This record gives sequence, structure tokens and C-alpha cells, in this order.
Amino acid sequence: MEHSHGHGFYEHHQFEKPTEVLSDEHRVIERVLAAVGKLLTVPPAQSLSHWKKALDFISNFADQCHHLKEEKLLFPAMEAHGIPLEGGPIGVMLMEHEEGRSHVRAMRAAVEGLERGETGGVESLLSHARGYLRLLKEHIQKEDEILFMIADDCIPAAEQTALLKSFEEHEAREMGAGVHEKYLAIAQELEAALNISNE
Ligand SMILES: [Fe+2]
Ligand SMILES: [Fe+2]
Repeated sequence: MEHSHGHGFYEHHQFEKPTEVLSDEHRVIERVLAAVGKLLTVPPAQSLSHWKKALDFISNFADQCHHLKEEKLLFPAMEAHGIPLEGGPIGVMLMEHEEGRSHVRAMRAAVEGLERGETGGVESLLSHARGYLRLLKEHIQKEDEILFMIADDCIPAAEQTALLKSFEEHEAREMGAGVHEKYLAIAQELEAALNISNE
């Protein structure tokens, strides 16, 4: 293997298609969804630091890093090759991203309330967390099984290579160097704290 002088996440992986990057990110997101599932089984007031860590991951990695790559780069490339942004499968994905964001805002508000000692937020936190888990699991499955196949088929190979490069630039710009690794570490920390084995 050629030695790399870069520091980016992409230099350590052999990705040939942009959808491979996104599917790979789905696997990391699923690990944190499993951690949130486990958090649902313990009283939130005793696990606020874990909730905050999970929400940090969800806002930054799942939304900022991952969903924005889809919205700003992959979906427009698909649109350029005949798949409309509105209506149809991309429209559904965009709607689900927004729905996810509103669950995340509600979870964040509930956690902030709990931090101030208000107990009224527990039900809201748990129900939005359940809603978010259900939404994201299905969303990821639809992308992996349907939407990414469409993308692989409709985007020409040379443009896929260019998209990979744009993903890397997006990550450097939105997240900064080393941030991908930071969020992988957060997934691991949550698993360790919640006794989830990752085999
Ligand atoms: Fe998505
Ligand atoms: Fe996705």
C-alpha cells in the first residue's frame, strides 16, 4: 500500500463510488442508533452525558457530515441525470432528513431542560428518540437498497470519481481534519459506556 501523507479519512479507505462512502457512514450511524436504543432503557436523568454525546454525534456526523453530502452533492448529481429532486425517491429522502432534524431539535431541548432540573422533558425525549430511531433505520435501509442503486446507475463513472473528491472537500470544509475520527471514537465510547459489544 502506498504511504499517504494526508490526514483525511478518505486516504485510509479505498472507495470507488460515492455511495460506498455513504453506506460506510450508515454503518457508523447505526452503531450510535443502537446506543440510543440502549439509552431508552435507563432513566435519562442518570445518563445525560451519554445523551449529549449521542446528540453531538447525530447533529454533527449524521446530519452535518452525512446528510449534507447527500443533499448538496449526491442528490443534485442525480438530478442532473434525470432523477427529479421533488417528488419521487429523492423528495422522500429530503422530507425524512427534515423530519429527523425536528426530532433532534426536540431531543436537544428535552436534554437541556433535564440539565436544568426540569423533569417534564423525559416523555418528550423518549418519544422523539423512538421516532428518530424508527425513521433513521428505515431511511438508511431505503437509501442502501434503493436510492444508492439508482445513483450508481444514473451517475457516469467520471462524475462519481469527481463526487468522491467533492465529498472529501465537503468534509474538510464543514468538519475539519480529524473530525471523522473523532466521531468514530464517540461511537466507540458510547458502546463501551453502554456495554455494547461491536463484533
Ligand atoms: Fe439520507
Ligand atoms: Fe444516508
